Amino acid sequence: MSGAVEILRQPRPMQRWAEAARLRGERIALVPTMGYLHEGHLALMREGWRRASTLVVSLFVNPTQFGPNEDFGRYPRDFDRDLRLMEEADVSVVFAPEVESVYGSGFQSWVEVTKLTRGLCGARRPGHFRGVTTVVAKLFNIVKPHCALFGEKDYQQLRAIEQMVEDLNFDVEIVPVPTVREADGLALSSRNACLSPAEREQALALSRALFAARRLAGKGATLEAAINEAQAVLGAASGVRVEYLEAVDARTLEPARNLGAPVLLAVAAGVGKTRLIDNVVLAARPSAPSARA
Ligand code: PAJ
Repeated sequence: MSGAVEILRQPRPMQRWAEAARLRGERIALVPTMGYLHEGHLALMREGWRRASTLVVSLFVNPTQFGPNEDFGRYPRDFDRDLRLMEEADVSVVFAPEVESVYGSGFQSWVEVTKLTRGLCGARRPGHFRGVTTVVAKLFNIVKPHCALFGEKDYQQLRAIEQMVEDLNFDVEIVPVPTVREADGLALSSRNACLSPAEREQALALSRALFAARRLAGKGATLEAAINEAQAVLGAASGVRVEYLEAVDARTLEPARNLGAPVLLAVAAGVGKTRLIDNVVLAARPSAPSARA
């Protein structure tokens, strides 16, 4: 089923719509996006429909989460294509504001999650997560969702938002959604559109490295052996400039020493002009059931 989607371009009308929906007893799901939609975004929308009676998708390329030398200007955009996909996904309302209606000229209030954003991408993209948590906090106040869906593809972002919700008492349920991949393993990303066919092939090294590590860990190898395996795959790949490959505790994002607790193995790399990230969670092989059980 699909039909015409309502498009709202200003925070006020969006807030009024949300208030009315709540008064009608609707349960609102929100999927925040920067557009150029793909199957990963659509998986979030489907999960939203399973959990709510109305679905809002926000489409906003948020300037405050891009550094001065990053790809804000180059970020892929295609509103008409996005609209078609959202119609197919039966989205109730698209919130697609202009930058000026989100950030007024006097804007000066920020939301920052400190510890969780220190490492990984936070260390390489100063101010990035401050931009993310600030815009997501604003979206929560504008769309008033009961639940909001976020992809595990952007794992550090997901953890930072979960922490923000806990710390600031947002009355929103955060729903994580597993990473959607191409058949060959490449994690879907709007930025994949920037890859040439040759670069797309090179980009496969990221998921291959992570999967190789996960395979070893699943067979009982140590964390060190699993990391070495991932490093070897990345090292042998051409055209991939590794920014980091790191193993951290999947909850705290502090460096992990072993597989005693779930470990996030995360990678960021440049391929051509495009920066890509990916991750998997490594779990130690479950120990054999006790003979006495
Ligand atoms: P964007 O990159 O458009 O992603 C929107 C949502 O889709 C995020 O929750 C992201 O984790 C999820 N997503 C992206 N690729 C995915 C994949 N392959 N599988 C599953 N989920 C995937 O992330 C952002 O936008 C922005 O930072 C935003 C949260 C909208 C704030 O501006």
